Amino acid sequence: MLKVKQVSKIYEGKIAYRALTDINLTIDEGEFVGIMGPSGSGKTTLLNMIATIDEPTTGEILINERNPHILKKEELAQFRRRELGFVFQDFNLLHTLTVEENIVLPLTLDGKKVKDMKEKAYEIAEKLGITGIMKKRTYEISGGQAQRAAVARAMIHTPKLLLADEPTGNLDSKSSKDVMEMLESINKTEKTTMMLVTHDAQAASYCNRVIFIRDGKFYSEIHRGDNRQAFFQKIIDTLSLLGGDAHDLSSVRV
Ligand SMILES: Nc1ncnc2c1ncn2[C@@H]1O[C@H](COP(=O)(O)OP(=O)(O)OP(=O)(O)O)[C@@H](O)[C@H]1O
Ligand SMILES: [Mg+2]
Repeated sequence: MLKVKQVSKIYEGKIAYRALTDINLTIDEGEFVGIMGPSGSGKTTLLNMIATIDEPTTGEILINERNPHILKKEELAQFRRRELGFVFQDFNLLHTLTVEENIVLPLTLDGKKVKDMKEKAYEIAEKLGITGIMKKRTYEISGGQAQRAAVARAMIHTPKLLLADEPTGNLDSKSSKDVMEMLESINKTEKTTMMLVTHDAQAASYCNRVIFIRDGKFYSEIHRGDNRQAFFQKIIDTLSLLGGDAHDLSSVRV
């Protein structure tokens, strides 16, 4: 489903900065993979390259056997809309629109019929438990609700790959748990492949596999197995071996 081959990223600038070195990664269809590592280790850089927001300096990324980085602008825009869904820490909802309008936004870009879009939006909202807030504007809802709306928007065109960067970063532990349970259930029922960047060990424990990076390089990976609580403990242990900064420790919640 996703292949990252020997990818390195150097940010050019007054002082060039090497953010990633020789990353190799294969994600199978239907997998739910977490990416963890200290602040500045290159997690967002990696995700943005897979999201086609940025390009690798060397190496190659294949999504469903296709290299999005060689597509023309319009093809790329279509590829993004059809294949990928995004969820960010700050929700990225448009404040002048209602929740419903935000959710159908990706479909309006594809020129779908209003009635069909509405149906689809309510079908998803039902699953995510947000039908009650569809007519509200985004400043009238809570952070947890906003993130669920953002997940609904990311899922409305049934993407094959959902990419999330710190989706629980601005949420309290209860909302965080709700969002993770929702992602877990979407992963199971829709078979959507998911990749989640997070500092939060609790959130990461919902993944099937967690990959750790340090200083832009692969560090290690661990698999979940049946027991989420045991996996959570393994994540905590790996994080403490990995080291990191205060920001990382602050989000280690038990
Ligand atoms: N556009 C850019 N230009 C130059 N350097 C950048 C740019 N974006 C990121 N970097 C640098 O690359 C490194 C990796 O950044 P990245 O955002 O990928 O880290 P991260 O692992 O997501 O960290 P955090 O956990 O704090 O979000 C950092 O040292 C950062 O300063
Ligand atoms: Mg980041």
